[in-house]
Order: sequence, then C-alpha cells, then structure tokens
Amino acid sequence: MPIKIGVLTSGGDAPGMNAAIRAITRAGIAEGMEVYAIYDGYKGLVENHIEPLNYHFVSTILNRGGTIIGTARLPEFKQLEVRQKAVENLKRHGINALIVIGGDGTYRGAAELNLLGINTIGLPGTIDNDIASTEFTIGFDTALNTIVENVDKIRDTSSSHQRCSVVEVMGRRCGDLAMWAGLATGAECIVIPEVGLDVDRLVNDLIMIRQKGNKHALVIITEKMVKIDELTKIIQERTGYETRSSVLGHIQRGGAPTAADRVLAMRMGAFAVRLIKEGWTSRCVSVVSNEIVHFDIYEALEKPHQIKLQLLEDAKTMR
Ligand code: F6P
Repeated sequence: MPIKIGVLTSGGDAPGMNAAIRAITRAGIAEGMEVYAIYDGYKGLVENHIEPLNYHFVSTILNRGGTIIGTARLPEFKQLEVRQKAVENLKRHGINALIVIGGDGTYRGAAELNLLGINTIGLPGTIDNDIASTEFTIGFDTALNTIVENVDKIRDTSSSHQRCSVVEVMGRRCGDLAMWAGLATGAECIVIPEVGLDVDRLVNDLIMIRQKGNKHALVIITEKMVKIDELTKIIQERTGYETRSSVLGHIQRGGAPTAADRVLAMRMGAFAVRLIKEGWTSRCVSVVSNEIVHFDIYEALEKPHQIKLQLLEDAKTMR
C-alpha cells in the first residue's frame, strides 16, 4: 500500500508556499507516495475538498507568490466535532500523513490532529516569522525585501521634504519584520511589541535625532500596537518634524518568493517527506544555523519567541 500524503496551506498566505507544495509533491512522488492537495486549508479538509496532485500540476509554481491550493482561517477548527469531520475525510481518501504549511494557528491545528491519530507534520510558512522553533519561516525573507524596497522609497520623499515618516508593517504580535526591516533601512527608531511602545521615549529620541542635525527621520513600527494616525499627530506636535504615516498592508504578503525563500521551502518540503518515509510522527520542520532539523510539534508550540534585542541596541548606536 503506498503512503498517501495530504498537503494544505493555512492562515495568511506567504511567498514560497508554492515552492514547498512543489517540493512535497515531487519528493513524495519520487518516493513512490501519492500526494493530495487539500484546498483552502483546514476548511477544505472539513469540507472534503481533496484532489490528487501530480508531477505536472506543480511544474510552473516555484516562482509564484501566494498559494495555488488556497488558504483560509477556520476558527471553528478548535471544536472537536469539526476536527473529527476532518479526520473522517482523510480516512475516506486513505491519507495517512498530512503536511500543513502555515503559522502558529496552523501548528495548533496540527497538534490537535496528531492527538486524533493523524500524523501531521508542520512546515513554517508565514511572513511573520513568529514560530519560535525555527530561525526563519518560509515567506519572511520575501516580505522583508518588499518592506525594504518600499521603505527606501518612503525615505526618498521623507528626506526631500525633511519629514518624519512613520511606517507600519505587519507581524501580528511579532516584531521580526519591523526589526529586520528597520536594520536594513537604517530606521532611526524601531518599535516592536516585544519591547513595547513608550511614546515619551520615542518623542525624546526623535528630538535628540533632530538636534543632532538629522533633517528627516524614519520610524518603523509593528502593526496593532497603536493607532498610527494618533501617534503621527503626537510626533508632529512634540518633535517639530512634519510627520506622515504609511501603512504597507497586504502588499507585504504578495510577490514572487526570493531565492532564499524558494530554497528554504524546497529544503523543508523534501525534509518533511523524508520524515514521513522514516516513520516520524507529530514533528515540525525548522531551520537552525542553516541546517534543516525537526522538533516535536507540542514542544515547539511551548517555546517562547525570542527576539535578538542586541540588534536593536546596535541599531541605536548608529543613528
Ligand atoms: O499572519 C500573517 C498576517 O499577514 C499578519 O501579519 C497580519 O496581522 C494578518 O496576517 C492579516 O490577516 P488578514 O489578511 O486575514 O487580514
């Protein structure tokens, strides 16, 4: 009996998900396995939207952004009856292993499916980089490059007009996108949830930066920390900088994956297939010191996300 693998993408899409789907399909077929697409994440699993994947279907997807098998958020998956439906559908197709590509919420769904006897392997696919067990998630590098490209443009106009520009980036509760983008663009101030927003300190920092002779300034902040328009108004009123804000929004999730994301996705996808072949269960795939490794998915979910705070300190010395 061949091993039958299901693959789904769930949560916010991330560039490189297609490269991972391709890797899983091709590596699975090469191992004599059958590979099935589960459309629209856990929603498609519950609604039995499951179809076989073949070698040619994934021929031209490596460089495409988004996910060709669709994605969704399904809060109802927390309910046992909903998950049981998913298990019934997998059994109906004879699928004995599942690879889920997504972020934190996707991993939680995977952990629950393992408890119901379905071997589910997690692959980190999210622009947020908020999975503690891996140094990088698939999609993070592309989103970071998109942010950098756009912030560079904002910096051009900000310096021409001698303004302070406040740029809000995605990340949910994780400051990695803001921090790495801040470093790469030389932002004068980086505000992330792991440190918190102290408005007085931010204002004082900007005043100090202005007094040093900087005619413009750039602030990068993670979304959902503050109402951006209110913060912009405060900065303008208290620092003397004419101030504008930009919310980059969903542009950060789109576009062709970078080479780094493509290669990461391919390595992780092939690795996940090997884990299944070798009989590993309840695992998640990670990259640590540029090696692809695996962890118990329950333990991975317990790990607290750690930010490299020293990088923020280093950035401060350069402004
Ligand atoms: O998890 C990825 C992400 O893009 C977050 O950065 C953001 O908070 C969220 O998804 C936005 O979700 P939606 O597209 O459902 O509004």
